[in-house]
Amino acid sequence: MTTTAVTHIASLVTNDPSLGNGTPLGLIQDAAVVIEGDRIVWTGESSKAPATDNVLDAAGRAVVPGFVDSHSHLVFAGDRTQEFNARMSGQPYRAGGIRTTVAATRAATDEELSANVARYLAEALRQGTTTFETKSGYGLTVEDEARALRIAGRHTDEVTYLGAHIVSPDYADDPAGYVDLVTGPMLEACAPHARWIDVFCEQGAFDGDQARAILTAGRAKGLHPRIHANQLSYGPGVQLAVELDAASADHCTHLTDADVDALGQGRTVATLLPGAEFSTRAAWPDARRLLDAGATVALSTDCNPGSSFTSSMPFCVALAVRDMGMTPDEAIWSATAGGAAALRRTDIGRITPGARADLVLLDAPSHVHLAYRPGVPLVSAVWRSGERVV
Ligand code: NIG
Ligand code: FE
Repeated sequence: MTTTAVTHIASLVTNDPSLGNGTPLGLIQDAAVVIEGDRIVWTGESSKAPATDNVLDAAGRAVVPGFVDSHSHLVFAGDRTQEFNARMSGQPYRAGGIRTTVAATRAATDEELSANVARYLAEALRQGTTTFETKSGYGLTVEDEARALRIAGRHTDEVTYLGAHIVSPDYADDPAGYVDLVTGPMLEACAPHARWIDVFCEQGAFDGDQARAILTAGRAKGLHPRIHANQLSYGPGVQLAVELDAASADHCTHLTDADVDALGQGRTVATLLPGAEFSTRAAWPDARRLLDAGATVALSTDCNPGSSFTSSMPFCVALAVRDMGMTPDEAIWSATAGGAAALRRTDIGRITPGARADLVLLDAPSHVHLAYRPGVPLVSAVWRSGERVV
């Protein structure tokens, strides 16, 4: 198999604390990485790199692991420009806007939906995202949810069944009937096409008892739970996530001390989605409080047409540093290794032998520039599974 070395990397983020400077980022100065096939086979100081078939000189630029975006909603049609415009003119964000996207998504063809996913993925890839999770949740019928998952599965292995995004408008007068559908025939049709099950546990969506019933039913069908929790208000979502050993509790904006303690002690990752607070002008989640309590924190885009229409992980990193109390090192870790933890993956989010060769070469001497130079397109090359894709 062909081997390729990327040499003279000014600063390499490995996310292996046993390497380099001994911090969680395992930073190596003047480093090299060797790729063989789809794997990383060697990481270390540039002067010690083994001979390879090809060499690419990074010429003093930084390399970070490909971003792991562990929360997005990309199977949708249309957009919600008017809703955003109204919100920026003073109206509040409510879960109900999702219905607009449900109508547009149901009306779209498979080809339109798949082309949309491909388009946002290409956008994300150009910004360094090499792994992403995505959800259903804009179909809300048995057929439309299963179709969304089939389409998502053409683009990623990290597919999440979110039939419980909101109560379908078809069941407006019968929410209990909708929960029966989500845990019954819809789950039956969707489980073969998904790895995860999610629920929007929130006022105006699903309460704690409904969320528990939905996630438990999913687990019985082999899906693993993750939860939209405590986004718009305090509530039972985070505690439920920890109790059910969900891989991740997502949003975590309104947390009691007990919620923070639970995340600090359990292995459920707290996934923070600053694009949502940015685009809804809401209060920021307090990453510092979670980190100080010992929680594992991930950063993700939540890319969706309603509350966070960004596909940019660098943008989320910059927001997390500026407004959520994270250091640049912590934010980079959370956008890479943190996302991998939120997907319970060990093969991605790090640049060490055996990991998938997902690398981002930055037009900058250090990863800190991702926060220091917000909004600047610093991604100069991307490898995914050993293949140069940007
Ligand atoms: O994560 N919170 C629920 N789901 C999305 C919003 C989706 C929408 O508004 O269309 C979120 O923010
Ligand atoms: Fe979401």
